Amino acid sequence: MTTPPLITGLDAIVHGGDYNPEQWPEEVWHEDVQMMREAGVNLVNLGMFSWALLEPEEGVFTFDRLDRILDLLHEAGIRVGLATPTAAPPAWLLHHYPGVRPQTSTGQTLFGAARQTLCPSSPDYARAAERITEQLARRYADHPAVALWHVHNEYGGAMPACYCEVSAEAFRGWLQKRYGRLDVLNNAWGTTFWGQSYGAWEQITPPRQAPTAINPALQLDFLRFCNDAHLQCYRRERDIVRRHAPNTPITTNFMIVNCKWIDYWSWADEVDIVANDHYLQAEEEDNHIELAMAADVTRGLAGGRPWLLMEHSTSAVNWQPRNLAKRPGEMRRNSLAHVARGADGVMFFQWRASRFGAEKFHSAMVPHNGRRGRVWGEVVDLGRELGELSELRGSTVRADTALIWDWQSWWAMELEWRPTCDHTYLERFRAFYTWLWRTHRTVDVLPPEADLSGYRMVVVPSLYLTTPAAAEELTRYVRAGGTVVVSYFSGIVDANDAVHPGGHPGALRELLGVEIDEFLPLRDGESVHLDNGVSGTVWSERIVLTGAERVLSYTDGPAAGGPAVTRNTVGAGQVWYVSTRPDPDGLRAVLDEIAPPPVVDGLPEDVEVLRRTSDRGSFLITVNHTGKEVDVPARGVDLVDGTRVEQTLTVPAEGVRVLREEGTD
Ligand code: GLA
Repeated sequence: MTTPPLITGLDAIVHGGDYNPEQWPEEVWHEDVQMMREAGVNLVNLGMFSWALLEPEEGVFTFDRLDRILDLLHEAGIRVGLATPTAAPPAWLLHHYPGVRPQTSTGQTLFGAARQTLCPSSPDYARAAERITEQLARRYADHPAVALWHVHNEYGGAMPACYCEVSAEAFRGWLQKRYGRLDVLNNAWGTTFWGQSYGAWEQITPPRQAPTAINPALQLDFLRFCNDAHLQCYRRERDIVRRHAPNTPITTNFMIVNCKWIDYWSWADEVDIVANDHYLQAEEEDNHIELAMAADVTRGLAGGRPWLLMEHSTSAVNWQPRNLAKRPGEMRRNSLAHVARGADGVMFFQWRASRFGAEKFHSAMVPHNGRRGRVWGEVVDLGRELGELSELRGSTVRADTALIWDWQSWWAMELEWRPTCDHTYLERFRAFYTWLWRTHRTVDVLPPEADLSGYRMVVVPSLYLTTPAAAEELTRYVRAGGTVVVSYFSGIVDANDAVHPGGHPGALRELLGVEIDEFLPLRDGESVHLDNGVSGTVWSERIVLTGAERVLSYTDGPAAGGPAVTRNTVGAGQVWYVSTRPDPDGLRAVLDEIAPPPVVDGLPEDVEVLRRTSDRGSFLITVNHTGKEVDVPARGVDLVDGTRVEQTLTVPAEGVRVLREEGTD
């Protein structure tokens, strides 16, 4: 099935970027629009940080510049994602209403002259944000250039949590709704520990800096509260926009997987289009794998439907320790790799490189040397190519493996005083993802309680916090014939970070058919060995088999002689458990035993092959990250150059080719 266009009236792959014309004199705008046309730009995000210009004094509005730029873009046929500018509170707001300034956990106030200086629970901020949103929505709801509303910018990015007194009061209100009665909260938080019981709601404070470890259940709830506080800010603006512009899609930009603090599963249904910002870790050699992972998580949030890459960079960013420039061709590969994983739009931060301000060394679509820049040529080529790939729009990616992703496990697992500081959420997730990527297995990323029916395999890299509902769904799936792989330190605690009763791995004990008698984390740099020669680091444990069979054993280390990898047969399916962190080859050896064969086999590891399908046909997207030309078995027509491929698609070194397939169902 072909899904409807992401953006009504824009029946093409979206191409464009954040546009900040307020940084430039008006004569440059005309050149901008001309160059946008040359680059095939069809959408720009406007007004993101313009609050101080649109409302220079409280209640005084100046829209004439925005009127002119919107009209100019409209005349040129360029559509606009109009932003609410509330991520950049103006100086007057912070000056007149000091309560808008957020506070850190040590009680320090954060000041302005930056962006995101805001307390999400501040009523003064709420009132001001509401007013500017109302003005903008009323004025521009029917402007023909506006095709999308872009609410705020990267909620929680610079300012995930505020600990001020107003936030504390809001937190208490949130807790009252969640728990109703104080004894229920005391019980849920285990406040008998260290005598932390509360006798009145007023006694509860956010997890401000304390002499030692703070109640983890309180910390978890505070993170949930902060997520909800940001979500409430989003909803407030979205609902105002919706009232004025009921037929225009509304979104905000996510930051997957770089933002730990927002639980995007709770946001996914609140946006009309899932939009993501993704920036490579420039120094990582295989950062294209992390890109693929972010794209897959984004597609998961979009429920498999096409999504929008709202921001990435044409070349270097400016905020990493060493901001390596992208090499020629890399931006194209990055862009089309996102498209391969379901993006129906490729946008950038930003259109024209700033001359001043904190981001002047960040790359842009128009570099400082304008048309003479290398990047400009690649931007124009990309625009042309995205135009040729129009048919891809609305198609969806098929995957046969599911991977469970959970922000709340991430939060809980990385609170202080865990068995080891070496076990981190992203590291385990990435290790399993990398193996799937390298073996050409396309994955769907799902939340823990999702329906798993239909997948050939489900991988659970790190589900420290496991609810009974998640455990039940995994069990149902295995019973019905599925294969599950679980990594260590999963199933351990409930939603309040309390250990599930009866011993580890708690919620998954019965399903895995093992009991963990003791966690046996390893010293820094220490390794243990398994009887197939694989080595493991970081973690081991003493496992008692209670139904599972032993597949591999520890030959040395604190669990020597005991099971290391186990398999349990439950109903018609099987569940595997990996109790250490195998080296990458070792993980691969273990997993190759378990997993059904990849759909595509025999290709070099660093070549991505994805399939998107729709009513328009089946499309094969191949991204070659190697320095050598690669042959991929395929039949069809190249969407860009029209060449016919009978048997073998030759993908140039570091190149990308997209084929409309023939002879597939
Ligand atoms: C984020 C922001 C942009 C810009 C880029 C720079 O994604 O949304 O405004 O600051 O980072 O990489």
